[in-house]
Amino acid sequence: MKENIKPATGHLGVLVVGMGGAVATTLITGTLAARKGLTKAIGSITQLAKISVKSGEEKAIKELVPLADLHDIVFGGWDIFPDNAYEAAKVAEVLKEKDLDGVKDELERILPMPAAFDHNWAKRLNGTHIKQAATRWELMEQLREDIRAFKQANGCDRAVVLWAASTEIYIPLSAEHQSLAALEKAMKENNTTAVSPSMCYAYAALQEGCPFVMGAPNLCVDTPAMWELSKQTGVPISGKDFKSGQTLMKTVLAPMFKTRMLGVSGWFSTNILGNRDGEVLDDPDNFKTKEVSKLSVIDNIFEPEKYPDLYKDVYHKVRINYYPPRKDNKEAWDNIDLFGWMGYPMEIKVNFLCRDSILAAPIALDLVLFSDLALRAGMSGIQTWLSFFCKSPMHDFDHQPVHDLFTQWRMVKQTIRELAGEEAPSYLD
Ligand SMILES: NC(=O)c1ccc[n+]([C@@H]2O[C@H](COP(=O)([O-])OP(=O)(O)OC[C@H]3O[C@@H](n4cnc5c(N)ncnc54)[C@H](O)[C@@H]3O)[C@@H](O)[C@H]2O)c1
Repeated sequence: MKENIKPATGHLGVLVVGMGGAVATTLITGTLAARKGLTKAIGSITQLAKISVKSGEEKAIKELVPLADLHDIVFGGWDIFPDNAYEAAKVAEVLKEKDLDGVKDELERILPMPAAFDHNWAKRLNGTHIKQAATRWELMEQLREDIRAFKQANGCDRAVVLWAASTEIYIPLSAEHQSLAALEKAMKENNTTAVSPSMCYAYAALQEGCPFVMGAPNLCVDTPAMWELSKQTGVPISGKDFKSGQTLMKTVLAPMFKTRMLGVSGWFSTNILGNRDGEVLDDPDNFKTKEVSKLSVIDNIFEPEKYPDLYKDVYHKVRINYYPPRKDNKEAWDNIDLFGWMGYPMEIKVNFLCRDSILAAPIALDLVLFSDLALRAGMSGIQTWLSFFCKSPMHDFDHQPVHDLFTQWRMVKQTIRELAGEEAPSYLD
């Protein structure tokens, strides 16, 4: 293993923004249950995956690199509702009461700190557990103080801040986001249209030396200002938008069509979802943020400019429908119109009856643990190798994102091997 990776000693604080939400409470409950031996961490790469090394042997990722142990994690966070993690998990209705009860005492002790929130950024939400501040700068200062106090009270050596809160409204990149100085000025002048609450969390995390993970499609850390700050502070950032269900399928199927040189004329994706996330996304301004995140995938994989005969006219449509009876149990349909030899048309229908938070929770855990590893390995700025977990992988203006799941997986394996001072055994891996 590379000598310069600091060991994962002491406690790791995991501060979740949106601590009372469906993803957050599912993540927290599953992690606590796994470390008590009540369940297995199904879906988690850090806990279960093995990769091969030069000798040809397969080794668990956690044998190769020093990841924080689940027993060393201390959960905390912020929410606009004051419910403890047990009460919030009951409201989210993702997990059965019997599964919550296995770790009830611990869940009840996890309480959210008051949130940095602005109703204009998520109009469907009306919370009560909210910070008061004269400016965005002051709001950010309060969050920094929260992080310091949490680490001290819980004896944490390090902390990671994970955004698993509601999707904010779509905003385009503006002058305020182009440099750190411009962002700081906007925060001090209380420019509430350019500086989102999520930017305050991200700024506070990076200044406190905590990796920041963006699990929603918010613009937030996708700005030159945040890249500058993460480089300056030597802290990793990653995101965005957990790649959990429909887009996961898309980034598996699209590379298959492309590898076989099959054409695609249309791809229609729709789903029904009834949790609070679905309700927030029912607002067109919030849906726009998600739509932008979901739409970029196909063009990126198909490269229509290189393969115009196959992909120049792909009609791609994405719909999300709020449908309360389904709660967290999303149902997604994809209709793909493809064509083959001599242009003959074919169709594929995908019907994925998934559970949104069951898919997202292990992704969130892996992003947290890998971000903490990256920090200890001295890797700052955008963590491109974590694209594997993201629907809309972060990238700077000089690079294109990678969406193909298999290419993304190679990026993870290659990074782990490099950190472990290992190599791939052959061209097959
Ligand atoms: N579940 C998935 O498969 C999946 C996939 C990709 C992305 N996401 C994103 O993850 C996020 C969480 O999803 P969810 O299903 O848990 O949603 P949720 O509505 O159940 O939870 C979001 C929580 O965030 C809280 N919140 C909102 N604004 C806040 C703020 N400014 N500060 C602190 N707390 C705030 C809400 O009160 C709520 O408890 C959403 O943005 C969603 O789009 C989820």
